[in-house]
Amino acid sequence: MKIFTTKKEIAQYFAQKDGKITGFVPTMGALHPGHLSLIEQAQQISSEVICSIFVNPTQFNDPKDLEKYPRPIASDISLLEQAGCDILFNPPVTEIYDDNEKWHLDIGELEHLLEGKFRPGHYQGVTQVVYKLFNIVKPDLAFFGQKDYQQFLVISKMVELLHMPVKLVMCPIQRENDGLAMSSRNIHLTAYDREHALILSKTLNWVKNNFDAGNIPAIKQQAELMVNNEPGIGLEYFEIVDGQTLRTANADTKNIVALVAARAGKTRLIDNMLIG
Ligand code: PAJ
Repeated sequence: MKIFTTKKEIAQYFAQKDGKITGFVPTMGALHPGHLSLIEQAQQISSEVICSIFVNPTQFNDPKDLEKYPRPIASDISLLEQAGCDILFNPPVTEIYDDNEKWHLDIGELEHLLEGKFRPGHYQGVTQVVYKLFNIVKPDLAFFGQKDYQQFLVISKMVELLHMPVKLVMCPIQRENDGLAMSSRNIHLTAYDREHALILSKTLNWVKNNFDAGNIPAIKQQAELMVNNEPGIGLEYFEIVDGQTLRTANADTKNIVALVAARAGKTRLIDNMLIG
């Protein structure tokens, strides 16, 4: 695997693309099988796969969260090598940002709902870095996980508004055997948190299995109750929404998604499920 840390190296490498289809998997590292499933999916439909590892400071609204974000770069490199990834882009912060860089993209309502309410400025940081990474890598295809469902919609909106020549691919959520959605943050869960965090996927499954389009408010209320009744879990939101607009779903909504965010001890977790 080639490892690049500067924009210049990437530009030189991609100067002659020879008609290759470049598949891009942006990450913040601390790689787990969820990330690796994106690499695998990218390998199936690209000639060459590039993964980035960059812990993006502008998307962390909590400085403590940024500080304690795991950065196991040596084991990440070996996981990418085992997965057969072709290129790793692992820039330092100074390669991506100037001091005091302030601009952001306004992509409208999508960045202010759900996660946007609980993590103000988060999606401004995400669009800022993904815009820069797309400009550096110039991928034909870019792969993102359904795990961060709203992030996928936000990036799709940016690509649409700015006419960026990249096709986005959404990849399914990878879960542990007991249902917990894989996440780089799961390493912070104590055994107690880990046990009770299962209520998120359990509740999403309950909503999917008991879904009744005529009764969405009652189902949402029951789901909130299930999460709230779980010891050690602090619910932030449980929403049943239109999968395109993220507005509250009603009996006529075609493509429904349930999304949840909660704290398990000190760790913030998100999960979601396509309801249909
Ligand atoms: P990160 O949290 O490292 O996630 C990188 C990619 O892996 C995202 O597209 C995310 O949705 C996907 N992913 C994470 N957990 C997954 C799981 N359990 N199953 C499937 N896919 C999963 O998302 C980011 O980084 C950053 O915001 C980034 C887009 C890199 C911008 O900084």
